[in-house]
Formats: sequence, C-alpha cells, structure tokens
Amino acid sequence: MITRRKFLHNSGLATTALLMKQVPALGQAPAVKALTLDPNTLAKFVDALPIPVTAQPNEHRASPANPAVKVPYYRLGMRPFEMKVHRDLKPTKMWGFGSQSPGPTLDVRSGQEVLVEWSNELPDKHFLPIDHNLSGAGKDQHEVRTVVHLHGGKAPADSDGYPEDWVTPGKSVVYHYPNKQDAAMLWYHDHAMGINRLNIYAGLFGVYLIRDNAEDSLNLPAGKYEIPLALCDRMLTPEGQLFYPVSDKENAPWVPEVFGDGTLVNGKLFPYLEVAARKYRFRALNAANGRFYHLSFEKGVSFYQIGTDQGLLPVPISLKALMIAPGERVDLVVDFSEHRGEEMILKSDAFTIMQFRVAGGKVEDTSLLPATLRPVSKIPESKAVKTRLLSLDEYQNRAGEPVLMLLNGAYWHQPITEKPVLDTTEIWTLINPTDDSHPIHLHLVRFQILDRRRFNAGLYMSTRELKFTGDAVPPEASEAGWKDTVRAQPGMVTRIIVHFEGYAGRYVWHCHILEHEDNEMMRPYEVTSAI
Ligand code: C2O
Ligand code: CU
Ligand code: CU
Repeated sequence: MITRRKFLHNSGLATTALLMKQVPALGQAPAVKALTLDPNTLAKFVDALPIPVTAQPNEHRASPANPAVKVPYYRLGMRPFEMKVHRDLKPTKMWGFGSQSPGPTLDVRSGQEVLVEWSNELPDKHFLPIDHNLSGAGKDQHEVRTVVHLHGGKAPADSDGYPEDWVTPGKSVVYHYPNKQDAAMLWYHDHAMGINRLNIYAGLFGVYLIRDNAEDSLNLPAGKYEIPLALCDRMLTPEGQLFYPVSDKENAPWVPEVFGDGTLVNGKLFPYLEVAARKYRFRALNAANGRFYHLSFEKGVSFYQIGTDQGLLPVPISLKALMIAPGERVDLVVDFSEHRGEEMILKSDAFTIMQFRVAGGKVEDTSLLPATLRPVSKIPESKAVKTRLLSLDEYQNRAGEPVLMLLNGAYWHQPITEKPVLDTTEIWTLINPTDDSHPIHLHLVRFQILDRRRFNAGLYMSTRELKFTGDAVPPEASEAGWKDTVRAQPGMVTRIIVHFEGYAGRYVWHCHILEHEDNEMMRPYEVTSAI
C-alpha cells in the first residue's frame, strides 16, 4: 500500500531537486492519473504570455495618517470567473481579484501611501475540499472567508491581513499601505485561517510593485521590457478544471503537500513571449502551494539576478540556474541580444515552463545593467539583543504520514511566545530536523540570512541537544540581499538577523508551503512598543 506521502510526491511527476533526494520521481500514481490531465499531452507555446493589467485608483480619499492628504484608493473585488489557461482547454473555473488570476498589478511609489478596499464578492460555497479539522476551519465557520495579506509589505498590524481577520461574502475591508520601504516586488494573496491553501490555489493572488528613485536612476529595462512572471503549479482534471488532491480519509482531506504537473505563468500553461533582441527585466514570483522552482534556460544560457524578495542586490550576479521557493521573488535581467532569431525555453528541471521567441532584427537598447545596484550593508551580529532558538517540526502517524507541523512545538492558538521589541534586532535560529526545506516567512520585516549549518537531526529529535556536524556556510550570492522568506534547509540550522521596525502589533510568521501553514506551521508574533 502506497503511503499518502509517497502518493503525493509521485503525483508531482518530478519533484524539486531538494525533495528528489528523498523521493525518486516515479511518474503519476495510477489513481491520480485517471483523474487528472497530463499537461504534456497539450500543444506547447500556443498561448501568448498574459501580462496582468495595472490597477488604477478608483478615487482619492483622506489618508488615515493625515486626513488633510488625499491618497489613491483602489477597490479590488474577489470574484468567481472562468479563465482559459490553454488554447485547447475549456475555461477553468477560478477565484481571483477582478476577472483574472493573477489579479491586477498594483504599481506604487515608495513613500506614496495608498488605500485598498479588498471586497469579498465570492459565492457562499467553496469549490475546493475544506478540511474542517484544521484550526479556524471548523464546521461552525463560514465556508468562504477571505483576508488579504500584502507579502513583503511593511504595514500597520490592522492592515496586515491577520489570518483571523477574515470577512465573508458581501463584506469588504479597507487596508492602509504606507509603502515606506525600498523598491521591491511584493505580492498580495489570501491568508484566511485554515483555508489559505485552497483560496490561493483557486487563484486569489496578484503582484504589487514598489518603485523608488534609487532604482529609477539605474535605468534598468522598464515599461514593456519589464515583465512579471508569476509561477504556480496546478493539477487539472481532463476537463481543464482545478484538481486539488485529497487524502484517503473522508473526513480529513488535508494533504501534506501538493505538486501540480502543469505550471501556470501569469495564468497560462506553456505560454510564449515574443521578445526583441535586447535586455529584459523579469520579476519572478513563486506563488505555488508547495513546489520549489529550479529555473534555467535550455542550452545553459546565463542570465543575471539583480534582486531578491525585498529589493536590489548590491551587484548583479551571473547565473545559469536559480532556486525559488514558495513565497520568494527574484528580479532577473536576461539579455536576448545574442540570441537573435532563437527560441529559448525556460524550464524547471524536467518541467517546461515557457518559451521566449527572440526577434531576428537588431534593436537599440538604451537600458543598462549597472555593475553596482544598491548597497546592502550587513547587520552586525553584535546588534542583536536577543537570539531565539526555534524548531521546525513535522509529526507523523504510525504509517509514517505527516499529520501536523509545528513551529517550536506550539500550536497556533497557544499564547504568543515571540515578542520582539520595536526598533530592536534579533537573531532567529531556525532548527530544521525534518526532511523538507521549509520556506519561513516573517510578516512586517525584512531580514538578512547569516548562515546555515548542518547538525545532528536524529540526536536533536530524541534529546533536543543541538550538535553541529559541519561549518557555518554563508548564504549564496543569490540570497545575500534583503529577504522576507528564507529556505530553512533540511538537517540544517538557518540563522537570520532581523531588525523589527515600522509598527508595533500582532503579526505572524509561518512556513510558506501552504499545506504546512494551514496545518499549524504558523504562529502569531507580537512586536511590542519600546518602553
Ligand atoms: Cu505570503 Cu503570510 O504570506
Ligand atoms: Cu507576508
Ligand atoms: Cu513547511
């Protein structure tokens, strides 16, 4: 009898490099194969890559911070709709912001505050399998609840999208985003307690870009040469509808991870993009529930990474492949000038993602890829007033199936244990004895990765004694900038240094594998005011 865990991993066809070590890719298990569509049977590169529209303010309203000032006010409705994900498939039923997924892109300036009314205009019944055993998703709760979080945003606590601050259909809330932070690619998505994984899978997410003068002065590729690439994997039924897998337990459908075998890029399967023979800037987001993307071009073409989650790197780095975990963003520059007339394929290990068709003609390109981008000064460890040891744990049943994930042994509803003081710096030491890489995200703040270090996981699990078995390794160049999500690698202790600034109040930190997050791998934390 195949365990649920193996079944799921197998159904992903090929898993990420990291997961592959533990579970070989064996192809789809027969049961799922019958229920789902094999995307590889579809014609590739027949749909143009969609570019989400840019949201326009509906009006201007008084700022909550200073009523004399009028600020842009956007209204974004969460609605059901049908969307073509591929030329040869019937429209797919989804939920999203406006009439497409990803939703409209918010494009704002640093320091320009905005108001966004997030309005839940969804039906009263969910169309994906709710597990009523999960915290906050009991039978007594309304099935359809939404609350929007701006991932990477430095927002007051009452505008952060606390998972229990959800609203039901017919209701809306107005959130205030001061945008007092550096240029970066953020993203907005649902965060409703216990059903977040289903709401995002349904399509409830979009891109949010913050710009600033420092970035403008670099003359990076812009306008139609700057393109968001929001990636997420999905399973589809043969009729082209979203398929979300369930466990073999009728009353407990939660599954520990979901890997789809087709990747939607801005909402299309295997899209193509016609590009001129010049530099482009791609803002890539991993919006998948659980898949890690390992991006590269076929034929080993190199590209540049210029930014991470929270903005520009100090210098561009040249890469041939790049790992991006759920929740993470990367800012890339690709120079197509030496590939005139070529067709280039972007892939993730064995998966085809999309195609770039480079025009044959020579074009003038006045944009730049500067040798230096923006200083990122290292926070010295001596600044930290506190070091927290925090374990990431998975619990299995007797069949070896994961049934629960906890942060530092605590459930969501237990009293808050992480209470950093506003304007102080802390080191969070994430101890991961599990076999999975957990992308850990903290709301409100940006941080730097200090290092990762191998330890004896077996010993730690039985005695809680932390014994290192290797040297501390600094972060890769690719993640040596400002981050808000960090891969806590299996069998390693990952240390981050965080300056808690902006606002006091209650926020959350969690694993960004959405199935983990929905099953207790999320905790509140509270930034307390300095005395
Ligand atoms: Cu992208 Cu708390 O989330
Ligand atoms: Cu966030
Ligand atoms: Cu996790």
